[in-house]
Amino acid sequence: MTILVTGAAGFIGSNFVLDWFDQSTEDVVSLDLLTYAGNLENLSSLSQNSHHHFVHGNIGDRELVLELLKKYQVRVIVNFAAESHVDRSIHKSKDFIETNIVGTYNLLESARDYWNDLDKNLKQDFRFLHISSDEVYGSLNSSDHPSSEKDPYKPNSPYSASKAGSDHLVRAWFQTYKLPTLTVNSANNYGPYQFPEKLIPLCILNALKDKHLPIYGDGKQIRDLLYVKDHCAAIREILINGKIGETYNVGGRNEKTNLEVVEMLCKILDEIKPKSNGKSYSDQITFVKNRPGHDRRYAIDASKLESELNWQPQESFEAGLRKTVLWYLENEIWMNYIVSGEYQCWIQKQYS
Ligand code: NAD
Ligand code: TYD
Repeated sequence: MTILVTGAAGFIGSNFVLDWFDQSTEDVVSLDLLTYAGNLENLSSLSQNSHHHFVHGNIGDRELVLELLKKYQVRVIVNFAAESHVDRSIHKSKDFIETNIVGTYNLLESARDYWNDLDKNLKQDFRFLHISSDEVYGSLNSSDHPSSEKDPYKPNSPYSASKAGSDHLVRAWFQTYKLPTLTVNSANNYGPYQFPEKLIPLCILNALKDKHLPIYGDGKQIRDLLYVKDHCAAIREILINGKIGETYNVGGRNEKTNLEVVEMLCKILDEIKPKSNGKSYSDQITFVKNRPGHDRRYAIDASKLESELNWQPQESFEAGLRKTVLWYLENEIWMNYIVSGEYQCWIQKQYS
């Protein structure tokens, strides 16, 4: 049998598929629309792997998805496909509504059509695992307890509202139709293959190109940072032992301000790629206009996952960030390919 991974050419999806083949020989169908954020290069190491099948397509294309589910006898769908960047959602929310809400709705319906016709055992084993975000819980004050699965949704950006909408649909498809769903709400991920519109890869790229490292507002906003491979391990565990219909929060127990993150990144770069003029990369830090509606703090309480499924993050932030910086330094060709074309238009629009 096979697993269907949507958004597999993006950041977390590609890490998940690559890690999957380190643990399993079960076939993977990677479905991706290859938007600006999707990059087939991320999966190029699998080009000779006969267990991997890449399909260029939209999660909203019901006919295509149903055909794939039947053809490959899919037993699990992992839905990473989404528009994922908050700043872009502020400029243009339409794509976020279309993919994150309407796309997820169509994917759920294709899954339901397929699942309804499975025989009893296959029906029982089928899983629809939906990937979501800690951002749906909204902004926390410094004294608030980290967000748990029981907390109400309070999304503040078009991105988080669209993710919240998709989570509600997934919940309803379990409650109403008994489709065996699982939802994973993760903290901010970092690691290899992240598109350099997000804070960490953007700052690595800008540091090396002698450009500003743009910090929104006062830089004291807090994010809980999780190494992407720890997230992938959590998803695999939830697929095996997660209880259907449930939500699992995944976080790194690693709250940092944006300024702390960028300063640590500069320190690592100073050490492994010192500037020829002897100065620190931290001199490039520049405070810029804040993001509208910028959430002050996200933090995730992952104790349900830790106690029920015995999952723990394996990577410390310092070590994970060092690995990430090294990966970007060693993958300059990937980086140069990524930042051509559309990327330049975005940077101009957002930071000029
Ligand atoms: P990404 O933007 O790097 O990748 C998204 C992928 O989805 C791209 O390959 C894109 O081409 C594809 N895609 C977009 N629309 C599609 C459609 N209609 N049909 C098929 N494919 C489509 O995103 P990411 O950072 O890898 O995030 C993956 C998932 O994890 C998203 O659902 C996101 O909301 C969630 N998430 C991300 C983070 C994070 O820190 N990156 C944290 C929590 C949750
Ligand atoms: P980002 O990587 O866009 O992830 P998210 O908005 O999903 O958390 O941003 C992480 C944090 O970094 C967020 O508080 C916004 C901030 N940030 C900057 O200060 N400057 C930037 O150029 C970017 C892209 C983000």
